[in-house]
Amino acid sequence: MAPASGTNAAAQPESADAELARGAYLATAADCVACHTKPGGKPFAGGLKIATPMGDVVATNITPDPQHGIGSYTEADFENALRHGVRKDGSYLYPVMPYVSYAGMTDQDVKALYAWFMHVVKPVAESPEETNLSFPASLRSAMMAWNFVASKETPETGDSSTYDTLRRGRYLANALEHCGTCHTPRNFMLSEKQDHYLAGGSLGTWYAPNVTSSKTGGIGDWSEDDLVAYLRSGHVAGRAQAAGPMAEAVEHSTSHLTDADLHALAAFILKVAPMDDDADHTARDAAGKAAEMPDIRTKGPQRIDDLAEMDGPHIYDANCSSCHGHDGAGTKDHYVPSLFNNSTVGAGRPDNLIMTILKGVDRTAGTEHAFMPGFDGQSNVQRLSDAEIAALTNYITATFGTGDHQVTPELVKSLRKDTPVVNPLAKGK
Ligand code: HEC
Ligand code: HEC
Ligand code: HEC
Repeated sequence: MAPASGTNAAAQPESADAELARGAYLATAADCVACHTKPGGKPFAGGLKIATPMGDVVATNITPDPQHGIGSYTEADFENALRHGVRKDGSYLYPVMPYVSYAGMTDQDVKALYAWFMHVVKPVAESPEETNLSFPASLRSAMMAWNFVASKETPETGDSSTYDTLRRGRYLANALEHCGTCHTPRNFMLSEKQDHYLAGGSLGTWYAPNVTSSKTGGIGDWSEDDLVAYLRSGHVAGRAQAAGPMAEAVEHSTSHLTDADLHALAAFILKVAPMDDDADHTARDAAGKAAEMPDIRTKGPQRIDDLAEMDGPHIYDANCSSCHGHDGAGTKDHYVPSLFNNSTVGAGRPDNLIMTILKGVDRTAGTEHAFMPGFDGQSNVQRLSDAEIAALTNYITATFGTGDHQVTPELVKSLRKDTPVVNPLAKGK
């Protein structure tokens, strides 16, 4: 898939095998599996519930089963769903299905994807439960209006594997990887604000940060190699890690891209026009330094089962310091990251820090598995209460980040709600 030269050759017919291989790669780059597979479910058989402000939308079965999946779809039907958001029966899809992005795919790539879904994906005879948004009843027909006003990508032309670096990068970012689905904020119509491209957006729980080239609000201080490393492994020492929805994007999609594609994607992203950020006024990964820990063990409550009485430093000492160190520097090999020079801690918004404490990190990329337990009571470590997590967050941002964010237990409580992570239309805060 390496982009060859800067030509804009017309699509050439390719062998059936080459087309299927291209289709498989495209399905990975477009991360179809992320939404169309429920936890523990069969690939592409649907069933994942995705929260929106109007209620949960259930992803459908897109295996080639004729009754339960898309086995009866012709290539034209498939194209219509993928690029125009219209189902075979003529009804409109909710834009949770990122057809505004996929609208940018070339004809040749849609054809290859179709061939791969029909010939390689295993049919699964299961129907996921139907989406049933109770109010307003006619929402699906209202989607027709939405569909008309939403700004969609324009289809690219020719053979996408021959594009020059920046065009290939743009194609990957917009038509396939749909980075903007999460990283571009939405207007009141829930359409991506194109004049704020990649300037950061809330997913309801996690926050997809500003990744424009702003040196203060974005990632303008990252090199192309940093960004390639992040997209390949989910981890760049001294800068950032990927948890939550970004961990999923890395695990299922970007870690499988070729080197040439990762460089093309990174080169394009780093050229995106800088947008400053309302909350981040210094580079997120520039904040903080190692803490000189006071000897808290000789002061204050001694018993760690007496957590109700503990303040930030004690909660940190009891739950985090065994891995992240008393000084917050992490491990020498960076497997456990330092908490200073860490974009999640240095951000002007505490959302991702709170979400990390609640949900932990669980990300596999290649042969590497990054794991931190969550403290929401679902894993085998101590459950931390809303008040404890608020105190801990404020202590960590004051010690290693940009200051005390005055996080309240109410904010932690609202983020604790177990909403799905692939959540492009979640209510903004
Ligand atoms: C961000 C989540 C998300 C991603 C990524 C995604 N989809 Fe979807 N897709 C959905 C949801 C949700 C629906 C059902 C929407 C509805 O009911 O209106 C859907 C519906 C569809 C349909 C209509 C099927 C039917 O029921 O008739 C097709 C076809 C489809 N997706 C194909 C794909 C392909 C191919 C990819 C990858 C290129 C993909 N989707 C990626 C969420 C997603
Ligand atoms: C499903 C939503 C989603 C998609 C799609 C997505 N991201 Fe992210 N991204 C996030 C979230 C959430 C974070 C914060 C993760 C964390 O703090 O652990 C993030 C973090 C990042 C960061 C780290 C920024 C920092 O300062 O720490 C970069 C860089 C990034 N994403 C780039 C991309 C690119 C490039 C794409 C497309 C290839 C992409 N993302 C697609 C949700 C998403
Ligand atoms: C068992 C060891 C362990 C414990 C205990 C632990 N962590 Fe972690 N932490 C990790 C690992 C491993 C990572 C992920 C590194 C990566 O993503 O590559 C991580 C990541 C993080 C991140 C960055 C997440 C992101 O998305 O950018 C933060 C912030 C963090 N931990 C804070 C904490 C806090 C606060 C506590 C205590 C409540 C804690 N950790 C407890 C091992 C641990």
